Amino acid sequence: MKVLVIGSGGREHALCWQLKRHSPGVELYCAPGNAGIAREADLVPIRVDEIQALTDFAADLDVELTIVGPELPLALGIVDEFRERGLPIFGPDRGAARLETSKVFAKEFMRRHDIPTGDFEVAHDAAELEKAAKPFGFPVVLKADGLASGKGVLIVHDRKELDEAGRAFFVERRFGSSGDRVLVERFLTGEEVSFLGLCDGQRLLPFATCKDYKRIGDGDTGPNTGGMGAHSPSGVVGAGDAREVLERVMNRTLSAMREEGRPFVGVLYAGLMLTDAGPRVLEYNVRFGDPEAQALMLRVSDDLAKLLRAGVDGDFGVPRLNFRREAAACVVLAAAGYPGTPETGAAIDGLDVAASQPDVEIFHAATAEVDGAISVAGGRVINACATGRDLRTALRRAYAAANEIRWPGRQLRSDIGRSVLEAETIQESGILSLPRELRRRPE
Ligand code: GLY
Repeated sequence: MKVLVIGSGGREHALCWQLKRHSPGVELYCAPGNAGIAREADLVPIRVDEIQALTDFAADLDVELTIVGPELPLALGIVDEFRERGLPIFGPDRGAARLETSKVFAKEFMRRHDIPTGDFEVAHDAAELEKAAKPFGFPVVLKADGLASGKGVLIVHDRKELDEAGRAFFVERRFGSSGDRVLVERFLTGEEVSFLGLCDGQRLLPFATCKDYKRIGDGDTGPNTGGMGAHSPSGVVGAGDAREVLERVMNRTLSAMREEGRPFVGVLYAGLMLTDAGPRVLEYNVRFGDPEAQALMLRVSDDLAKLLRAGVDGDFGVPRLNFRREAAACVVLAAAGYPGTPETGAAIDGLDVAASQPDVEIFHAATAEVDGAISVAGGRVINACATGRDLRTALRRAYAAANEIRWPGRQLRSDIGRSVLEAETIQESGILSLPRELRRRPE
């Protein structure tokens, strides 16, 4: 089967790696890919926002399955375009992708369908912002309605910061039209986890639990990033929460999307806060998380090409996903300057030594290869990933690999997974995917 993966990050490298190992007979292409993906797939020099060129490529080559990594092509309607041309593609159409492309749509959708989330208001100008924020007190969370590459979320601690935020959104228009509407949300506390599932429009196949770490600095300090590390299992989701999330969030979202005439095909990803009052959805994404996918792909043992191709036709035809028992972890290495302007061009040392360690996989993100030398080409650069019989082992191996990989100014967090291992309240050993009783066909 000819399969095209769209994207160029660690997520897409992990996906290509998984497909290459578990989908026999797959002929793999990736657009545009990166220096690491080049070892798994034929690279296609088309950017993710060149929808017409991607469609033409898939049509000319008779690609039998296209899998979309990042949100941008989904927001631009790549699925609508492919479907119009009769080309099989796994992902939501533009209408269903609204769950991610409009935070206001997502929150109002959750309110309509009684899906647990925090309280919120919507503001269209600075005066409304001030009024909307008042009942929540400080800190309060402000989010640009539209896509903002993970940078459209502000946590505001006092009146002065609120005024500054009002100016940033509505006067300076720092987020462009994405910030024309601003979501004002109650600040929630608890443990943050990611819950992902594959959807064929009718049913959802949940992935094992996972957790990512979004801030740049240890102890969850500093600005938000795309994600600085992840592990699966999450280590913090107990059976009760897992059941509640599956029923009240994931399955309910899928059936409500169907009811609203937006049947969802693709990856449904709920970013959740486990609060004292139970799980609350912070946001939806309509694609694999990055770096969650790097950890998850090390664990999924299914033939994903076959499964997703069946999903495009509306029925996965299997009751569940299968996971290796081992835990998996991912530590992201980022360029100096990230998440601001990254310093690019430096040569990366130690990749081969890191990759030769047992149970380690190195997934590339923003890398470039010139004359056999790999260099830094963007913000998040390398994912040092590993598996192990439990989270502690997987994390130790991932860090041992990460420490071999060097270039001037490289950044990494030193505490991925630490709080989970220290808490040890739920579990730390191997498998917590979903409790067995949840592994049944949803109604
Ligand atoms: N890891 C967060 C994201 O993929 O959006």
